[in-house]
Amino acid sequence: MKLAILSRAPRSYSTQRLRTAALDRGHDVKVLNTLRFGIDLSGDVPDLQFRGRTLSHYDAVLPRIGNSITYYGTAVVRQFEQMDVYTPNTSSGITNSRDKLRATQILSRHGIEMPATTFVQDRADVIPAIERVGGAPVVIKLLEGTQGIGVILAPTIKVAEAIIETLQSTRQNVLIQRFVKESKGRDIRALVVGDRVVAAMRRTAQGDEFRSNVHRGGSVERVELDEAYEQTAVRAAQIMGLKVAGVDMLEGRRGPLVMEVNSSPGLEGIETATKLDVAGAIIDYIDNQVAFPHIDVRERLSVSTGYGVAELVVNGDPDLVGKPLGESGLRERDITVLTLHRGVQVIPNPRRSQVLEDGDRLLCWGKLEEMRSMIPARPKRRSRVKRLPKNPIHED
Ligand SMILES: Nc1ncnc2c1ncn2[C@@H]1O[C@H](COP(=O)(O)OP(=O)(O)O)[C@@H](O)[C@H]1O
Ligand SMILES: [Mg+2]
Repeated sequence: MKLAILSRAPRSYSTQRLRTAALDRGHDVKVLNTLRFGIDLSGDVPDLQFRGRTLSHYDAVLPRIGNSITYYGTAVVRQFEQMDVYTPNTSSGITNSRDKLRATQILSRHGIEMPATTFVQDRADVIPAIERVGGAPVVIKLLEGTQGIGVILAPTIKVAEAIIETLQSTRQNVLIQRFVKESKGRDIRALVVGDRVVAAMRRTAQGDEFRSNVHRGGSVERVELDEAYEQTAVRAAQIMGLKVAGVDMLEGRRGPLVMEVNSSPGLEGIETATKLDVAGAIIDYIDNQVAFPHIDVRERLSVSTGYGVAELVVNGDPDLVGKPLGESGLRERDITVLTLHRGVQVIPNPRRSQVLEDGDRLLCWGKLEEMRSMIPARPKRRSRVKRLPKNPIHED
């Protein structure tokens, strides 16, 4: 395949290893500086320029987008997506994982365990928020920090308040998070490629430091992950839309707590600690997937007027509970079930014989009007916009 590695650091360990692994496997590979692309929307089809000239054809890109160029970098990746070039990490995956609040919001609805986290704006809400996550000591995080910078452990509520106030006065948004003491300055980095963990390490913070990042002097050792950690890491990466990801987890009392999902994980620490060819695993995965460029399913499918994607919940409905899917009547109503979600389990392309249970969530493609009637307690028609009332504001 012809592969472009998007990177501004051609000499870095990670980029060199990825390039070497691709060359060793007989691929045609180029490292291209992300900031030298031009997004060309002037022609009939979306196009890209590189260093001022039309870019030649590539089968796949591997984005390594640094935190300082997220906006431009994701725009370039998005353009490759429009051109049907395969990327293991989508632009929306990179964007979602980059912001710690956004990532936490998305992961939490899928039942991924994380340290208790809150986000508030008003001064008056800060102390209740700290108390809600368990009080001091408490962790305060900048939304877009990396390498441990911007992660602070506040010993008391007073100090926490002062830090938050200072940061907010400089227009920095912060997360307030429970300090997971039992993790004792250690965390797990799992390197996910596709649907498996290809390598994992434990990082241990130096001395009385609580942040275990390698850049903060943390030491690393290889670990064998148990099932719960592996599954959590893979699911977190999948939910974020990342096929290559470094998932950071704390070792909580009841199992893994996801802290963040990195879309451009460094390879030096993990390859050194595990002696595994992680770069090779990434290249092999891309080679294997290159025929399946990313398709925004929702966007593509909703082009058929009147049809769309919706999630139907089996909610005690006697017509559905205990019935095989084939007898649910959905197909007859022009509704196709794409996946069935049951708790944390996912059944893709469920068969006609699949028996439905209460609480199942069905991701469906079909006639919107038919599906609307199955989504309870929503108005059938879009209501008309009413006239502004005589007294638009009630004085109190
Ligand atoms: N809630 C927490 N409880 C205990 N330790 C934490 C917590 N959050 C972060 N840490 C420690 O700080 C490190 C950096 O935090 P992380 O959220 O991964 O930020 P960064 O993006 O800067 O790496 C983690 O690897 C972990 O060792
Ligand atoms: Mg981290």
